[in-house]
Amino acid sequence: MKSVLLLGRGLSEYTDMFNLKDDELAGKRILDCAAGVSSFRSEMNRKGFDVTAVDPIYSRKPDELEALAEESFKRHRIFHGDFLSGIKVKGVPLEDYRRAVFRKFLSDYREDPAGYIAGELPHLPFSDLQFDLVLSANLLFLYEEKLSYRFHVEAVREMLRVGREVRIFPVTNIHRRRRSIYLQGIMDEFADHEILIQRVPYHEETGCNEMLIIKSIES
Ligand SMILES: C[S@@+](CC[C@H](N)C(=O)[O-])C[C@H]1O[C@@H](n2cnc3c(N)ncnc32)[C@H](O)[C@@H]1O
Repeated sequence: MKSVLLLGRGLSEYTDMFNLKDDELAGKRILDCAAGVSSFRSEMNRKGFDVTAVDPIYSRKPDELEALAEESFKRHRIFHGDFLSGIKVKGVPLEDYRRAVFRKFLSDYREDPAGYIAGELPHLPFSDLQFDLVLSANLLFLYEEKLSYRFHVEAVREMLRVGREVRIFPVTNIHRRRRSIYLQGIMDEFADHEILIQRVPYHEETGCNEMLIIKSIES
């Protein structure tokens, strides 16, 4: 999807988007799905956690990603204009923060390419239940105008195939004023799972502070 911006969030933002707690993550195999240029994998693996990242962009060389990220910074400025100019993440202006995240991502991507798998929803290159937790940030629901309802259903089904628990953030569309038109349908579609919307502390860019959790009901 060409129109998706290649801007990555850092570990502190993932922690807030997904209500993550270190003691609950210890020993878990975690997949960051649609990880893009996020530094989540880099920062988590440095802390000793087991995180794999998957995204279609990982078929590209590091230098190509650098050029694409630069292009995204330009588009982001044009698209959001002044609206985001005052926003800070952890006290740092948004673009400076995103650039720091990108540098962390890129050095890990160069040093440990095995942790970055090229693949795309709705067909991931992993075996059934290879992961305990699958996190997916800033793709589903957000881009509801570009991605069909059918795609959302297939994407969620695929993430549940490879992981026991799936968390999706945000549940709003990119215009941020309301929950995605697909949300209720997805909740109905997976009603035979444990499914809940949870409030989270994050809201910097999306204005949204809700995440969706879906997991298999243990028999
Ligand atoms: C806005 S970025 C979010 C990156 C990261 N999750 C974050 O929150 O910082 C969206 C990512 O979705 C990826 N993407 C687009 N289509 C995809 C698909 N069908 N399956 C998996 N990832 C996809 C893009 O390549 C891009 O890296």
